[in-house]
Order: sequence, then structure tokens, then C-alpha cells
Amino acid sequence: MTDAPRITIEKAADFAGQTVVLQGWVHNLRKSGKIAFPIFRDGTGFIQGVVVKANVGDEIFEAAKHLTQESSVRVRGQLRAEDRAEGGYEIEVEAIEILQAVSAEDPFPITPKEHGIDFLLDRRHLWLRSRLQHAIARVRHSVVKASRDFFDNNGFTLADTPILTPAACEGTTTLFETPYFDLGSAYLSQSGQLYSEATAMALGKVYCFGPTFRAEKSKTRRHLTEFWMVEPEMPFVELDGIMDLAEEFVEYVVARVLEERQQELKTLERDTSKLESVKRSFPRMTYDDAVKMLQAKGSEIQWGADFGNTDEGILSEGYDRPIMVHRFPTEIKAFYMRPDPTRPEVALGVDVIAPEGYGELIGGGQRIHEYDDLVKKIDEHGLPREAFDWFLDLRKYGSVPHGGFGMGIERCVAWICGIEHVRETIAFPRMIHRVRP
Ligand code: 4AD
Ligand code: MG
Repeated sequence: MTDAPRITIEKAADFAGQTVVLQGWVHNLRKSGKIAFPIFRDGTGFIQGVVVKANVGDEIFEAAKHLTQESSVRVRGQLRAEDRAEGGYEIEVEAIEILQAVSAEDPFPITPKEHGIDFLLDRRHLWLRSRLQHAIARVRHSVVKASRDFFDNNGFTLADTPILTPAACEGTTTLFETPYFDLGSAYLSQSGQLYSEATAMALGKVYCFGPTFRAEKSKTRRHLTEFWMVEPEMPFVELDGIMDLAEEFVEYVVARVLEERQQELKTLERDTSKLESVKRSFPRMTYDDAVKMLQAKGSEIQWGADFGNTDEGILSEGYDRPIMVHRFPTEIKAFYMRPDPTRPEVALGVDVIAPEGYGELIGGGQRIHEYDDLVKKIDEHGLPREAFDWFLDLRKYGSVPHGGFGMGIERCVAWICGIEHVRETIAFPRMIHRVRP
């Protein structure tokens, strides 16, 4: 199609006034008499086309009038600024080449009308093309990239951890088990943390970033069975240093999304003033104070219980940024969490709770670095000591205070996008009742 430059929609501004070629899909079509307005999308954005019968002639106009949703096309035309158009530009179409026409008898199943969630999730491979899903996916991209950049630029070395593991990290109730040749069973990783503790003793500050698995039996809007987590781990650090890093990290990620994804946040109708206030320092409160605050606000919670979704919602009320709750009861936390030496019934862990009721965004804390204490905890939690011999080695050979945290990417994206459920923040969500498409 001529030698006009082939461009992507997100670069339209650079080619204003020029004749260009776009390749993409037909998102939508409006017609009125002798003019047609197809909306094209190409993965980088959406742009309105204008096809005027008097300019293009009968043949091209007929073709334009019959474009079906999601047909793939190549379009030549002149780009021009148009304030009223999405993205600020439109394309005055001169020629259209149809690569594959979607049949009018078997049209694209997802139309601009409302569809039920199960209908959409069953067609997730097609639903991804919709405007909102496109915006969410691009925000996710920025969250992931910003997370990597943050750690890369702050002296952390990427050291990814295995997915097939011999034992539990975050409790035995959410383990996925899989047969493993002659060795019996292996388990899908719930967190890379234990291995990151080893790489941190080799490399200093490290992070891992990958998929993690939890056989969550709960059906909530915050739980997936497969989700992505970024987990930094540092030697020579205590709880306060871990909290400092967590707030700096969250501030950075939110700022980057605001910088890179204004268009997408607008599509999502996100109130960005709620994100602009995400600045250090984040309020810090002990679990003890959090329980008192909850009780004062009418919650039934008793000291010793974990927070439910409702409690986290109540806690974050009245704050315009995430809050950090630290020193949870040792009893309810993972085996590796270091009890506070001055008060062993609480552990040196922290949860970062997002505002607007989005709940726990980050979990982390300081690890037990003393050999005997760790052996005791492994036994108390009924974990197989043999499976942790290597982990105990780390407490025998140059043990130091250390710790880190994990942030679930899907929780972060849901919060930043302001959407209800984490299932839309990942291309192909895995939940208790869904493993397809
Ligand atoms: O609080 P969690 O369980 O902490 C850990 O796994 C630690 N080992 C991390 C560390 O210290 N390196 O999980 C961390 C975060 C949560 O705050 C939440 O954002 C996310 O992972 N998360 C989930 N996201 C989606 N679906 C689930 N089922 C999740 N479980 C945890
Ligand atoms: Mg947690």
C-alpha cells in the first residue's frame, strides 16, 4: 500500500498532516449518509477514521460502509488534529485494504452492549481487545516496568527463584501439588522469598519477579490462584528499613503510571487526584493500635485475629495514601517471621494496605536469622525439617539480620486502575472455578 510511512496510532501526533498507513482492526463503525466513521485500533491506541464518499469514490465507500467489527485492515489516509476525537487526531481515509473480513453471519461476540462476567471471561481471548481491558493491560505493563526499574536503579540484582519447590513457604493450606518423577511430589511456589534469602546472602540486595501460586479456596475479588509477585530481599536490614523501602517503592510505581498512562487512566475514568496524593511518608501503626481503632469504629475484631477485607477497608478510611500496619501476632504469621525480641508475641512483619478499600498490597518483614529459633518454628508449624535443611544452612554460615517484602502485581494494578476485581488485571486469570481459556 504505497510508500507512505507505516505508523502506530500512539505516534499519530508525530505525523500530523501527513499521509500514513495504519494496520489494525475495526473497533466500531458509525455511518451517516455519505460519510462513515470507522474507529480503528492497533494495539497502541484507538483512532477515528473519516470516510467521505465524495472523496474516495463508490467502491471504497461501499467497502467502508460494510466493515465488520474486528475485521483486520490496512488503511491509508491523512492524519489531522481534531480536538473532539479520542487521542486528539483522526485519519481521513483514502484507501482500505481488508486483510480478513469478519463474517456478518458470525460476528465478533463482544459488542458495545453489556455482557455478563461469565460470558466475558469465557471469551477472555477476545475480551482483551476491548477499550477498558486494553487500558488495564497497559497500566499493568507500566507497573511491571516501573517495579523492575525501581529495583534495578537502586542496587538490587535480579535473581529469579524456582517455581517447582520441595516445600511450603506461606503455609500448607494453599499448596498446589504435582507429581515429580521418582522424587514424589513437588509444589508450585507460593513465594520466591526463601530462595531470595539465599541469593541475598550471595549477591546483597536482590529481587525476584515471577508467577506464584496459591490454592486459594476463597472466592474474593482480591484472590487469584496464579498471580505475579515482585519480591525484594536485603541483608543487613531491620523492619524499619524494610518499611522505608516499601513506601519509596509504592510511591515510585504510582508516579510512573501517572507519568506514562494518563490516556489509559482517563479511559478507566480513574480519579487521578487519589493517586497523586500517594507520597511518602505513609502512616505507620502497630497491629495493637489498628485493632483498637477497628474496635472503636465498631468492628468485632479481637486481638489475635487476622484482618478481613472489611477490617482493611475500615482501617484505610480517612487516609489519602497507603498505611503500614506492623507487628502482627506471631501466631497468625508465617514460620519465618522474626518475633520482636522485646515482645515475642508479635512478629516484625508489615502489611501495606492500599487506600480506597483495596486492601493488602504488600506483605513482608524481617526474617528469623537465628538457627535455633528457626528450627523451633519449623517444628511448631509442623513443617518437614528435611525440606528446609538448606534454608537452615543460611543461619549457620554468616547469618545476618535480613528481610524484604512481596507486592502482588494484580492487587497493585486493580488499585491504580480503580477496578473492582483482580481478575481483569491479568491477561488470563486463574481462579478456583476457572482455568480456561
Ligand atoms: O503477604 P504474602 O503472602 O507474603 C509473602 O508471600 C511473602 N513471602 C513475601 C515476601 O516477604 N517476600 O503475599 C504478598 C502479596 C500480598 O500482599 C498480595 O499483594 C499478594 O502478594 N497476594 C495475592 N495476590 C493475588 N491473589 C492471591 N491469592 C494473593 N496472595 C497474596
Ligand atoms: Mg500477607
